Amino acid sequence: MNPACAGGLRCPVCGRALAVFGRALRCAQNHSFDIAKEGYVNLLPIQKRHAAAPGDGREMVAARRAFLQAGHYDLFRSALAELCLRFAPQNAHIVDAGCGEGSYDQTVLAALAAAGRPAQLIGFDLAKPAVRLAARLAPQALFAVGGSFCAPVADGWADVLLNVFSPFAAAEFARMLRPGGPVICAVPTPRPLCGLKQVL
Ligand SMILES: C[S@@+](CC[C@H](N)C(=O)[O-])C[C@H]1O[C@@H](n2cnc3c(N)ncnc32)[C@H](O)[C@@H]1O
Ligand SMILES: [Zn+2]
Repeated sequence: MNPACAGGLRCPVCGRALAVFGRALRCAQNHSFDIAKEGYVNLLPIQKRHAAAPGDGREMVAARRAFLQAGHYDLFRSALAELCLRFAPQNAHIVDAGCGEGSYDQTVLAALAAAGRPAQLIGFDLAKPAVRLAARLAPQALFAVGGSFCAPVADGWADVLLNVFSPFAAAEFARMLRPGGPVICAVPTPRPLCGLKQVL
């Protein structure tokens, strides 16, 4: 986990800023959230959980990780990185809402670093198994369990907001983005992966 990114988080209970205190993040109201050994933090309060294990399940997340790391979507990963290179300013703050297992974040951060423009990235997702994998894959970022409709990111922190194949939360995205900041959003076509489905 990158502690520098913690300044971009907000307490999911009272909305105040969070800061690192030892192995936890804490706000001025003393709401405290442990940092897991993998480096992520759970910022989804129990009252906002609509299921015992919200978001994609462990098997789905593992399958997506295997698929993406096998290179099948490298073209798409590169395209996302190119968009970030085009739109992110120097020392950019990037938020990935619904980040999944973090493969895209790994690519984006590597591309920006290779261009001499290292960025800070906060990714969050409802699915704890996904966030756990993301935190291991890209320890230079900060990953949290959190929901897009109650996002754990401070107002205006993001220079760029990524939203890849996951729910679009317009009001929260506008709140997190600096004024005029771009949203890089990927949505499926009306017949997603239809060539692949035909083969199967
Ligand atoms: C199709 S996956 C995409 C994940 C990742 N962006 C990718 O493209 O590999 C959709 C993701 O959205 C997450 N998700 C669903 N509802 C969400 C919400 N309200 N807030 C945040 N994440 C959510 C799921 O847990 C899942 O990881
Ligand atoms: Zn608080």
